Amino acid sequence: MYETLLSLLLCTSASGVLVDRSLEAGARGRDVVDTVLYRIRRSRVFPDDDDFIRRVAYTENMFGEDPWTYRPGYAGGLWNTDRFNMSQYDRPYRSISPKLRNIHEAIKKTMGIDWMQVTEADLLKPLYSGLTAWIITELFRRQFPRPSNVVGQGEWWHDLYSARRPVYGDFQNRTLELLIEDMRPFGGKIDLMLVVDGSCRVGMEAYASSLDSLARLVGVFDLREANVGLVVYSNRVTDKIPLTNDLTMLALQESIRSTDYPNNTANIYAGIMGAINEFQTLPNARKESGAPKLMVIFTDGNHTAGPDPGLAAEKAARAGIVTCAFGIGDAIDDGQLLRIANNDADFKFKTESHYTLREQIVRVAQRAKTMPQTLKMGSDTSVTMKDGDAKRYFLLEVPEEGATITLINAKGETRGYWTFTPEPPSSALYEGVLTEGETFISPPRLGKYWRRRRTNLTMPPKNMLLTLQGIEADNRVTLWIDKGDVIGCGFAAAKFDVTSLLLSATFVITTVLLK
Ligand SMILES: *[C@@H]1O[C@H](CO)[C@@H](O)[C@H](O)[C@H]1NC(C)=O
Ligand SMILES: *[C@@H]1O[C@H](CO)[C@@H](O)[C@H](O)[C@H]1NC(C)=O
Ligand SMILES: *[C@@H]1O[C@H](CO)[C@@H](O)[C@H](O)[C@H]1NC(C)=O
Ligand SMILES: *[C@@H]1O[C@H](CO)[C@@H](O)[C@H](O)[C@H]1NC(C)=O
Ligand SMILES: *[C@@H]1O[C@H](CO)[C@@H](O)[C@H](O)[C@H]1NC(C)=O
Repeated sequence: MYETLLSLLLCTSASGVLVDRSLEAGARGRDVVDTVLYRIRRSRVFPDDDDFIRRVAYTENMFGEDPWTYRPGYAGGLWNTDRFNMSQYDRPYRSISPKLRNIHEAIKKTMGIDWMQVTEADLLKPLYSGLTAWIITELFRRQFPRPSNVVGQGEWWHDLYSARRPVYGDFQNRTLELLIEDMRPFGGKIDLMLVVDGSCRVGMEAYASSLDSLARLVGVFDLREANVGLVVYSNRVTDKIPLTNDLTMLALQESIRSTDYPNNTANIYAGIMGAINEFQTLPNARKESGAPKLMVIFTDGNHTAGPDPGLAAEKAARAGIVTCAFGIGDAIDDGQLLRIANNDADFKFKTESHYTLREQIVRVAQRAKTMPQTLKMGSDTSVTMKDGDAKRYFLLEVPEEGATITLINAKGETRGYWTFTPEPPSSALYEGVLTEGETFISPPRLGKYWRRRRTNLTMPPKNMLLTLQGIEADNRVTLWIDKGDVIGCGFAAAKFDVTSLLLSATFVITTVLLK
C-alpha cells in the first residue's frame, strides 16, 4: 500500500513540476551556468556585463567541471566567490552603501531572495554564487571601470576578482576557448539580415574591420538552412546582399568584405526599412516555416539623417522580425539603442570600437543560435544536428485542449526539455522531458507555481519552449505536432490525478489520526 502510494506520488510529480538545478547545491555544467546567467540578466538588477561573468565561471572552474569546485570546507561555488561578506556589507563596521542597498532591494523584488538572510553555505547553490559574483563585480566597477575587450577584462579579473593567486593570461586563454566554441557552426534555420553603418563617423579603416567581423559571424551559419543578407546604410541604403541568394559561404563572405564605404550621414531608419523589404522577398513557404527572423543593426545610436529609427524598429517587430541593436563606439546613445532593440535589453549589445567588435560579435552568434523556431500544429519538422552537444530551440503555442508531440529519431538519439516558463529549457531547467514516441502536453493552469515565480500573469502561459539536444553525434529527428490528446494519455493522467489525490488525502488523514 505504502509503495503504491509512494510511486503514485512520484509519478504525479514527474510531470509539470519544474526541475531547477540552479538552486541545487553542488550542481555543475554549462546548462546550469546558462540558466543562472539568463535569470540574473532577465531580472535587470545589473547592467550588461559584456559576457564577463560567464567567462569568469569558465576561467575559475570550467563551469564547475573542475573537481575542485566543490571541495570540502570551501563554499565559493561555481564562481569561486571569496568575498561573500562584502556582498552583504560593503562599508566598514557592517554598514551598507545606498548602492548596495538598492541592489538588495532589486534582488528581493525580482527574485524574491532576501540577501541579508543568505549565508555563505548558500553559495553552493549556483544561483547564489552567481549573484554574489555579480554583486561584488558591480561594487568594484563603481571605482574601476571594466573594458569589454578580452585583454582588459582579463586584467580586471586578475587585479580585482580572483583571490587565489591568479595567473596573467589564464582569463584570456580560457575566454579564447569559449569564443572558438561559440563560433562553432550552427545548422539551425534562421533568416538573418545585417544592417551595417557606413556613415562618415565610422571611418574607412574601422568600416573594413567591422566587415571582417561580420564575415566571420556569417561563417557560423549553414546556408542550406539559413538565409543571410546585408544592407549598408549611410544617408540611404547604398549597398546590399539580397536575403534570398545562391551564394556559397566563401562568395558571401567575399561580397561582405568588398562592400563600398559610403561615408555620408547616418540614416538608421533607411537601413532598417531596407532590411525589412528583404524579408518580404522570402518565398511564402519559407515565411510560413516558423524560422526565426533576426535583424542586427550596427550603429552608435546617433542618427544624423532621416526619420526616427525607433519607428522603423517597431515596423520590423510588427512584421515578426526581432531587432538586435549593436552599439559601436565610445559615445553610444544607449536609449536609442534600446528603442532599436524594441526595448528588449537581451537584444542590445555594445563594444568600444570596430576593432573590438570581433570579440563581442559572438554574442550575436549566441543569441541567433538560441532563437526558437515556431512549430506548427498538424505539421512535421525535421531537424539535423551534427554535433553531439548541439541544441535546437522551438516554440509551440499549446491550445486549451493540449498538444501531442511525436518525436521520431531517424538517426542517432535526441532528447527534448520543455517548459512554459519564459526561461529557455535545458537539462538544468525543465518541466518535462521529451523522448522518442508520443508525449501529451496540456497547458498549465494558473496556480501557486506561477505566483511563486513572481510572474504577473492573469492568464496561464500558452507558449511552450522546447530544447532538443543530441545525445550522440550526428542526429536526425522528426517532430510531429497534433492538436489535443491523440493517444489518450491525458485522460489517463486526469483519472490518475484524482486517484492519487484521494490516496494522498487518505494518507494524510490516517497519519493525523494515528498521531
Ligand atoms: C569577511 O570575511 C573575512 C574572512 O572570512 C573576515 O576576515 C572579515 O572580517 C569579514 N568581514 C566582515 C565585514 O565581516
Ligand atoms: C596562454 O596561451 C599561450 C599560447 O598558447 C601560452 O603560451 C601561455 O602560456 C598561456 N598562458 C597561461 C596563463 O596559461
Ligand atoms: C569621408 O568624408 C570626409 C568628409 O566628410 C573626408 O574627410 C574623408 O576623407 C572621407 N573618407 C573617405 C575614406 O572617403
Ligand atoms: C551625433 O553626431 C553629430 C554629428 O557627428 C554630433 O554633432 C552630435 O554631437 C552627436 N550626438 C551625440 C548624442 O553623440
Ligand atoms: C504587474 O502588473 C501591474 C498592473 O498591471 C503593473 O503595474 C506591474 O508593473 C506589473 N509588475 C511586473 C513585475 O511586471
